[in-house]
Amino acid sequence: MPLWGGRFRGETDRLVKEFTSSIKVDRRLYRFDIMGSIAHVKMLSKCGIIEEEESQRIIGALEDIKEDIEKGKLDLEGKEDIHLAIEEELIKRTGEVGKKIHTGRSRNDQIALDERLYLREEIDRVTTLIKDLQGVLLELAERNLEVILPGYTHLQYAQPILLSQFFLAYFWMLERDRQRLRDCYKRVNVMPLGTGALAGTSLPIDRDYVANLLNFPQVTENSLDTVSDRDYVIECLSCLSILMMHLSRLSEDLILWTCPSFSFVEIPDAFCTGSSIMPQKKNPDVAELIRGKAGGVYGSLISVLTTMKALPLSYNRDMQEDKLPLFQALDTTKESLSIYARMLANIRINAKRMREEAGKGFFAATDLTDYLVEKGAAFREAHKIVGEMVKYCEQKNKSFQSLTLKEYKSFSPLFTEDVLERVSLQRCVMSKNSAGGTGKKSVLRQIKMAKERLNGDL
Ligand code: ARG
Repeated sequence: MPLWGGRFRGETDRLVKEFTSSIKVDRRLYRFDIMGSIAHVKMLSKCGIIEEEESQRIIGALEDIKEDIEKGKLDLEGKEDIHLAIEEELIKRTGEVGKKIHTGRSRNDQIALDERLYLREEIDRVTTLIKDLQGVLLELAERNLEVILPGYTHLQYAQPILLSQFFLAYFWMLERDRQRLRDCYKRVNVMPLGTGALAGTSLPIDRDYVANLLNFPQVTENSLDTVSDRDYVIECLSCLSILMMHLSRLSEDLILWTCPSFSFVEIPDAFCTGSSIMPQKKNPDVAELIRGKAGGVYGSLISVLTTMKALPLSYNRDMQEDKLPLFQALDTTKESLSIYARMLANIRINAKRMREEAGKGFFAATDLTDYLVEKGAAFREAHKIVGEMVKYCEQKNKSFQSLTLKEYKSFSPLFTEDVLERVSLQRCVMSKNSAGGTGKKSVLRQIKMAKERLNGDL
């Protein structure tokens, strides 16, 4: 008979038992379930609801159960969920005493506690992994301060940039991902236990004491809200989705860059795989898989959002379905971050190829426009003049660098000798030192700030 079986007659249907069971998924919460239960019984004895000696026996047994689960000595197969499995085992080991553990709590507040305890650790883990990857990006930025490559918009040549600026762009995206998760942590870090099934309890419990034991700065304010919502799961999944979107874009850039037409970077053999039919192939599968797995993480977010969207208050069994998507999304994200840091630290950069491409496609057009503006032209007028120059060069198969001063002057009298130096690749990149720009000075400022962020507390 299950622990809730008092009002039931006869066995649960075999298929129903299997169908309602979540043990295969939620067994990974055992550590947090036990941690929460230990704090709970400590509180029960402190408040005089159970005897001190009873609490000691329960705690001892819970610790043994934890050890046995870790050693694979405890068969959890076929149990309804991790909470009932542990409670049943406790009663098996301690008899009457164990029957007291569920005093003043419900599985509804218990699962909310387990999830929040689990999420605190996982968020810490993910943010550490983000930091590791940020470290790699920062190092790449520092190492490539002289490397110039084309910057694209619409995947068309736009303006040349420093490779460092590219790596730093992803550094800052990941920095926001990290801060978003830290912010989400604040809302996860609220203690739900003691709100009972939905209404709280008439027993003289002390929720703040439990919060203290488990290192939560506060307890939840409303029992109905506490057992009803999974917004902290959804918030975490949305943070992970945005993070995976960033990793997916970085993957797309890398995949393009390894394509022979680009040949900007080479991913070492250890991070590539081959083709079963074409012997020459070396494919960027890791980057492709991360791009692909981002879809699965979005799926997790949509899955929990959809599960929650029409549930009446308070707890509904539908909510059991939040765990698989959450766990999968966290696993995928952690795996992707770890492998990314290793792969990126090992890429080989072909600076020559990058520079070659950076020199194509009228890269100095915007600089020439700015030049004319500095000499007094209105921006729109300057834009038109340079546009006409592009047309002229295309027709004559010339570049801005090969035009004579006389040709320049034929487009505008504002052009003087100094223009020839303004259209050099080096100058175009290095002069962009407005705050956040791609010039070396500005990039060095960013690197300094990025280091401060990484070495800071948050
Ligand atoms: N396994 C359940 C879940 O994950 C625990 C809560 C069950 N509560 C209940 N009233 N049936 O949501």
